[in-house]
Amino acid sequence: MPITTCIFDAYGTLFDVNAAARLAADEPGQDALAAVWPQLARDWRLKQLQYTWLRAVANQHCDFWQVTQDGLDWAMEAAGLDDPILRERLLALYWELPAYAEVPDMLAELNSRGIQTGILSNGSSDMLSGAVDSAGLGEFITANLTVESVGVFKPHAKVYDLVEAHYGCARDEVLFVSSNGWDAAGAAGYGFQTAWVNRAGEPIDRLYAKPHHVLSDLTTIPDLT
Ligand code: LAC
Repeated sequence: MPITTCIFDAYGTLFDVNAAARLAADEPGQDALAAVWPQLARDWRLKQLQYTWLRAVANQHCDFWQVTQDGLDWAMEAAGLDDPILRERLLALYWELPAYAEVPDMLAELNSRGIQTGILSNGSSDMLSGAVDSAGLGEFITANLTVESVGVFKPHAKVYDLVEAHYGCARDEVLFVSSNGWDAAGAAGYGFQTAWVNRAGEPIDRLYAKPHHVLSDLTTIPDLT
C-alpha cells in the first residue's frame, strides 16, 4: 500500500532530548554540570525509558512527566549533583527542546506531497504541545497522539492503535518513524512500515521485529513515501 500517513515519535526523533543537559551546561555557573553532562543526559534518558517499560509491565501507569522527573533525579544523584535549582532548570528546558535542523523542511515536503503528518508519543498532551509550539512545528502536525488516552506506554499495541483510530488508515499505509530502536521494532511488529533514525550509529535491537528502513537522520523520509 502507498504511504498516506507519516507518524513520528517525539523525544529523540523530532526533538533533541540531549539538548536540555547540553544547553544548561553552557549557562554561566554550571561548571559541575559541564563536566558530566553527556553521562547525565544518557542516564536521564535511559532511566526515563526504563521506568516507562517497567511501569507498563507492572500495570503502574503514570504520566511521562513523572518518569521524566524520576529519571532526572536518578541521573543527578548518580552524577553527584545535589542542586534543586539546576533540577528545575533542566526540567524547564525539557519543555522547549529544539527540533533537529532538518525537521521543518522534511515535514513541509511530506505535507506538499499530500501525506498526513502526526506525532505518537509517550509524552502527555501538554508536554507535546509545549515542544511543538516552541519548535514552531504546529503548522505541519495534524495530531499529537499521546499514550495518556490509553494509559500504558509504548510499545504496547494499544498505543499504536491510536493512529488508526485517529486517521482511519490501514497499518500498512502508515510510515512510523522513531529514533528509538525498540519503538521502531515494536511498530514494525505491529504492522506499520517503519524507519529507525539511528543518529548515533548504534547496533540494531535484537527484538521480535526489525525496522524496514535504517536512516542516519530525517532528511530522506519523504523519499520513503
Ligand atoms: C516518545 C519517546 C519514546 O516520544 O521518545 O514516545
